[in-house]
Formats: sequence, C-alpha cells, structure tokens
Amino acid sequence: MRHSAYVFDAYGTLFDVHAAVRRHAEKIGPEGTLFSEIWRAKQLEYSWVRSLMGAYVDFWQLTQQALDFAFHKVPSADPSLRAALLDAYWNLDCYPEVPTVLKALKADGARLAILSNGSPGMLEAAVKSAALENVFDAVFSVDPVQRFKTDPAVYELVTTNWRLYPESVSFQSSNRWDVAGAGKFGFRTVWINRSGQPDEYADFPPGLILPSLESLKTLP
Ligand code: LAC
Repeated sequence: MRHSAYVFDAYGTLFDVHAAVRRHAEKIGPEGTLFSEIWRAKQLEYSWVRSLMGAYVDFWQLTQQALDFAFHKVPSADPSLRAALLDAYWNLDCYPEVPTVLKALKADGARLAILSNGSPGMLEAAVKSAALENVFDAVFSVDPVQRFKTDPAVYELVTTNWRLYPESVSFQSSNRWDVAGAGKFGFRTVWINRSGQPDEYADFPPGLILPSLESLKTLP
C-alpha cells in the first residue's frame, strides 16, 4: 500500500553506524567489529536508561560516553583515535541505496522525514555529508521532548507536527526495538533487516520486512 508520509529512523537505517570504525579499520586493529558493536550497544543502552530515569542528555554526549566505554573495554583500540572516530561519526556514510530510494519516493509526491534520537546538530551534519539536504520535508530530533525512543512522545512529534493520524505514516527502521515502539504508537512499520537478524517483540510485529530500503520505491 502506498503512503504519502514516509518517516525514517536515522542511525542504522539511513546512515551506517559502523562506517566510522570502518574508516579507521587499519588503525583500530583486529577487534574493530567488536569495538564498533560495543560503541553502538552502549550508546543505545544509555538512551534507554536515561529515558527511564528522566535524566536526558543529548545523543551526541551519549555517543561520546559510549565511545569512551568501548576504548576501556577493548584495550587494543588506540584511544588517540577518539577525535577521528567522532569526526567520522558526525559525517557518517549513508547506505548506497538511500539517495535513489528517497528521491524516487519524493518524485512520487511523498512527504519524507527523519525521526531520530540524534541531536539536531548530528542530524544536520549527517544529512549534509550524505548530500540529502533537499530531500527531507522535516528532520525530527527527540531533543525537544528530552526523551529517547521508544517513548511514545517521540513518535508523536511526527503526528503533532504534520497533523496526521499515526496509521497514515509508514515508518522505516532497521532497529527492531524501534519498529516495536513505532508499531505500538500506531505507525505502519517496515523493518529494514539489513543483517538478517532473528525476529523479536512478537507482540509488535512489523507490517513488512525488507532486506534494504531498495524495494520501498517499487512497492505497489
Ligand atoms: C535513531 C537511533 C535509534 O536514529 O539509531 O533514532
């Protein structure tokens, strides 16, 4: 079913969170993949814990704290790479199919937005480095609500700002837990299962599962 409003998660869905470590793979050494996974897992854990405690600090600070944890956890990674890794994270690569898919949806008349835990500054920089500045009608950061996904107040940013019913929004995320939260809120959901993960959150199933964003533009 075609929708007129497509909302995308940012990190892991449009932007490749592991691209930062990959860019410095040679210097990081053999534990680069583990290092990148710890960095991402801690960044997300901090977002959930802080949301539950009501102790918001923005996602860029969490990204830095998670990176520092990863350096302690993986001593073979050289901490002098900290600034370079943060710079790479600020200017992440997007997945290869992203520009053409978004441009095709936009040419079809769809409204497009990002809804992300990212701070406004991070999202602005990522959109710019992926040359997607003229593609999105809106970039919604959680910053105004001072809570992270999966708090319903986050998903509500879209319906309030765009004056839409949740079920008229198609929400794409590669994060299965984000798909669960968005589905509970009432969005139609598409899980972009890029790495063939097993399903979870069975009581909040995705409306659709795709291996990448590619086939979004050809759905009937
Ligand atoms: C985001 C996190 C979930 O972009 O990756 O909201």
